[in-house]
Amino acid sequence: MQIVIHIDKMDYKELIDKKNLPRHIAIIMDGNGRWAKKQGGIRIFGHQNGVKSVNDVVEASAELGIQFLTLYAFSTENWNRPKLEVEALMGLLVSTISNELKNLTKNNIRLLVIGNIAQLPKNVRNKLLKTIEVTSINSGLTLVLALSYSSRWEINEAVVNIAKDIKNNTLQVEDINETVFKKYLSTSEIPDPELLIRTSGEYRISNFLLYQLAYTELYFTEILWPDFSKNDFYKAINDYQSRERRFGMTSEQITK
Ligand code: FPP
Repeated sequence: MQIVIHIDKMDYKELIDKKNLPRHIAIIMDGNGRWAKKQGGIRIFGHQNGVKSVNDVVEASAELGIQFLTLYAFSTENWNRPKLEVEALMGLLVSTISNELKNLTKNNIRLLVIGNIAQLPKNVRNKLLKTIEVTSINSGLTLVLALSYSSRWEINEAVVNIAKDIKNNTLQVEDINETVFKKYLSTSEIPDPELLIRTSGEYRISNFLLYQLAYTELYFTEILWPDFSKNDFYKAINDYQSRERRFGMTSEQITK
């Protein structure tokens, strides 16, 4: 049997147009479990190796001058995974944040979290809140971790809070519009992503930023998350830059 391995030797960083960078890139990091299985390891081994790719995309984004990078690190649905895997993921989060704090500061990176953080174990929550506070003065890349996050949870929260504000008379029904609604989402301070990347050959959005992805360019790759490199990230940005974003208008209107 002949096995053909395709090695992409192109240097995609060289090809990036620095004047047309997406302001916000969001990533669904998928395929850690399958990667581990291929190596003969348990799922946690895949998550541990996924941290290297996390560091790579954060560093690449900071170097390029991307303003926002959102990583789907733990979904609301991920709480249903085996207890051991959930505990390992929480442990990885704390250790990665501790290990990377110096690098966040060195690279002028600000940390934010979206999601139901009240559900997180106390040590994880405290570590996150402390890091958010320490890095709040940084003005470069904003790294947003989506943790215990799902869009349906987020939209539900927004509706509950809007109802509360109407009830206590701080909001009038006739004042609700898109701008006001967005203020009730976890991403109120964050622009919508221009580019969404999902690894591992799955073609789904999986309850991630459903409202915010309305006009986002979607990029899917077969590469499993622990194998996703800086060059793969640059390739996705190149692909984004080759697209025509029409926002419901015609091609002629855009190029005029
Ligand atoms: C999806 O792969 C990945 C996750 C649910 C967790 C992502 C976590 C990390 C990359 C490590 C820690 C992150 C940070 C930010 C420090 P999967 O387990 O669903 O893979 P599979 O689809 O192959 O089973």
